[in-house]
Amino acid sequence: MKSVFIKTYGCQMNAYDSDRMEDVLAPIGYRPTDRAEYADIVILNTCHIREKASEKVYSELGRLKRLKFSRAENGAQMLIAVAGCVAQAEGAEIIRRQPAVDIVVGPQSYHRLPEMIAKIARGTGQVLETDFAAEDKFDSLPAETSNSGPAAFLSIQEGCDKFCTFCVVPYTRGAEFSRPVAQVVLEAERFVSRGVREITLLGQNVNAYRGADDDGQTWSLAQLVVRLSRIEGLARLRYTTSHPADMSDDLIAAHREVDALMPYLHLPVQSGSDRVLAAMNRRHGRADYLRVVDKVRAARSDIALSSDFIVGFPGETDKDFEATLALVREVGYAQAFSFKYSARPGTPAAAERKQIPEDIKSARLQCLQDLLRAQQKAFNQASVGKTVSVLFEQSGRKAGQAVGRSPWLQPVHVDDASTLIGEIRDVRIENVLPNSLGGRLVPAREESSTH
Ligand code: 5AD
Ligand code: SF4
Repeated sequence: MKSVFIKTYGCQMNAYDSDRMEDVLAPIGYRPTDRAEYADIVILNTCHIREKASEKVYSELGRLKRLKFSRAENGAQMLIAVAGCVAQAEGAEIIRRQPAVDIVVGPQSYHRLPEMIAKIARGTGQVLETDFAAEDKFDSLPAETSNSGPAAFLSIQEGCDKFCTFCVVPYTRGAEFSRPVAQVVLEAERFVSRGVREITLLGQNVNAYRGADDDGQTWSLAQLVVRLSRIEGLARLRYTTSHPADMSDDLIAAHREVDALMPYLHLPVQSGSDRVLAAMNRRHGRADYLRVVDKVRAARSDIALSSDFIVGFPGETDKDFEATLALVREVGYAQAFSFKYSARPGTPAAAERKQIPEDIKSARLQCLQDLLRAQQKAFNQASVGKTVSVLFEQSGRKAGQAVGRSPWLQPVHVDDASTLIGEIRDVRIENVLPNSLGGRLVPAREESSTH
């Protein structure tokens, strides 16, 4: 038996891909390990979205190179592979900068890892594969999958046609592609037969899903959600990430009609200023976004919202930034991610002359994060005393403890629950910890909710 160690950076899409890479390598005898020191192949599944994320890869590669050499001194071979979006974007440059790298494989080519490993064994030198056909990948991935606990990710859509001016995704992940309906349903059924209770449908632009069925009809995400909700044993569905312009009425209605669809929506807005939104080529204004939020809340009043924000986009004034803060106050988020604008090579915004100084970006980020943190705290505080359903996913740090998620994606710690992993139970929330909630199981006869 050989072993593979995968380090995953960035988004949930990468987490899904890392699991599938393990599936691809299993038939040729590799089992996952969490110790890079002893692995026969180390894969860095990388992220290119911001500069910091991609620079990390090169420092990690320096460390791995030393590991590889020290293992070689002991007569053992360790392959180094770079996968993911940095691999796609920088391909040959990685091989040039770090000759210890054996394999560079893009997000649409990792199903070919076994061939690539075989090539290395034949002594062909470094191998680079950054082809772009998502269809080929999904058609070639093995049906057998070893991974995942009770909550699983399922990639249904990749790529992006939106071309926000700050974003590398349309270049690293390519054009929008949706997996066929039957393929998605089959994968979901396989997950459920292995004990999965919750599936998060993934896509860079998941709500732009347009999947073909066997009759050549095109399905929307809402139709897919309705179909998946009929799978017996599947209790919860989520989807991420959505674009405000693709929040169609049928999807909003699904939040009212489909019990399994959890009351949580990650809907990035990036900025609250119309001027900045236009410069970002977001294809929606502030009012459009607020209208979508109103409609979603009208369909499902308890829905929790989350978002992504960028501060210090080129040309952003104090007034623009104030508009972002005002939007945050108006919407009220349960959770959010916020970033300083990072100029990415090849994107239109990187060539803008009016780049914002680092100290201003930092000050704005701090201010926005203070507000978002306060909202998150208030949201969690409001759960105290309530009974919420929790899907238990793994054991906690304390003996006997289990950690699960509420419908609103809050982590919930419960004592004496370690035997309940994979099950959904009602929990009375008693306290708020820094990043999670604590609660106590509600005895079965008092249980009320079902998802
Ligand atoms: N700089 C900073 N943040 C970015 N994001 C995407 N590109 C950039 C960039 N160049 C953020 C956006 C997006 C999230 C995944 O990452 O907020 O929604
Ligand atoms: Fe990037 Fe915009 Fe596409 Fe999201 S919608 S992946 S931010 S280009």
